[in-house]
Amino acid sequence: MSNLYIGLMSGTSLDGIDAAIVDFSQAKPQLVASYFEPYEKKFKEQLFLLTQPGSNEIDRMGRMDRILGERFAYATLKLLAKSGLPKSAIRAIGSHGQALRHRPVGAHAFTLQITDPNTLVSITGIPTVSDFRRADVAQGGQGAPLAPGFHQVLFADPQEVRVVLNLGGIANITVLDPRSPVTGFDTGPANRLLDDWIHVCLGKSHDEGGAFAQQGSVNEALLAHFLEEPYFSLPPPKSTGRECFDLNWLYQKLDAFSGAQLAPEVVQATLASLTAQSVAQAIKQAAPDAACVIVCGGGVHNHHLMACLKTALPGRVVGSSAQWGFDPDWMEAAAFAWLAKRRLENQPGNIPSVTGAKKAVVLGGIWGG
Ligand SMILES: Nc1ncnc2c1ncn2[C@@H]1O[C@H](COP(=O)(O)OP(=O)(O)O)[C@@H](O)[C@H]1O
Ligand SMILES: [Mg+2]
Repeated sequence: MSNLYIGLMSGTSLDGIDAAIVDFSQAKPQLVASYFEPYEKKFKEQLFLLTQPGSNEIDRMGRMDRILGERFAYATLKLLAKSGLPKSAIRAIGSHGQALRHRPVGAHAFTLQITDPNTLVSITGIPTVSDFRRADVAQGGQGAPLAPGFHQVLFADPQEVRVVLNLGGIANITVLDPRSPVTGFDTGPANRLLDDWIHVCLGKSHDEGGAFAQQGSVNEALLAHFLEEPYFSLPPPKSTGRECFDLNWLYQKLDAFSGAQLAPEVVQATLASLTAQSVAQAIKQAAPDAACVIVCGGGVHNHHLMACLKTALPGRVVGSSAQWGFDPDWMEAAAFAWLAKRRLENQPGNIPSVTGAKKAVVLGGIWGG
């Protein structure tokens, strides 16, 4: 029986679909093939509108659920064509889908991901596991982050304390300490605010290499003002989506900041520093004796951000997960391939010491197959 699984992921950056084939037949999971399907500007805008409260949401969401089901399916077919593998070689797809809301706190907390798995099955013919987060939320957990179990399989070391840092729209860390259970949480923004601000100022989708941030100098008072956000000092478990750290948040902070008129590149530099400082603060608290920080997600390509992180975390090795043998761009998609495997094996996918759930549970449902 094949041990090849496909993971499909679209994160809070709304940049596009990450699709990966992962082989679980060896001691460590191996990336076999990968494919990225970018969202065109107009589509990204439509999707973005659904992440905000608005009118006639149910109709728009219902249609988008089907559209994303098709788009995820076609990304899967392109991935298969690229790999040269027949669909019969794949055991199952793990599809995270697209998050539209994440409200993990309070009575009737909920999290909502769309991307119709029925449509995925009907086009690809491959059994699909989806709806990964809600079983954890039903157990009182945050429903996030879910990648730490996969990080543990890939990177846990018997001697060394290691941190895995994912720099997506939001940043999350996993602490792998051989002496204690895995922990992890969302530290706050990673690329989201950087993308939003450069888009407002220069119309670009992202700050390539961090060049725009590099042109400005950090405004320390503004940075301190950003860091006063209560989320940063909340104890874990905690997670956040597009709800907290978005343009509205940034405008509110800028409005409340009574500093002199700030140049756009100064705000960009200060936002890059906010990501680096909030991540470093979380790592120093949660893993004071970490030997290394293994970085994945799109933020690894932002050289300026990586340099800021290295400065903020002296005495630790901070580098791309490629240095530890796994391509940083496909870690999250691969994590959902792993979660699909866990589901098919009826094994728990969540880690209660991470999400705060009452117990470890099997995550997701199976469509087709
Ligand atoms: N070359 C680059 N330079 C700067 N930032 C980059 C680069 N490549 C990717 N990114 C950042 O990574 C983000 C995508 O990261 P990703 O891990 O896919 O996040 P998500 O999981 O939220 O979709 C982009 O929105 C962008 O901000
Ligand atoms: Mg992405």
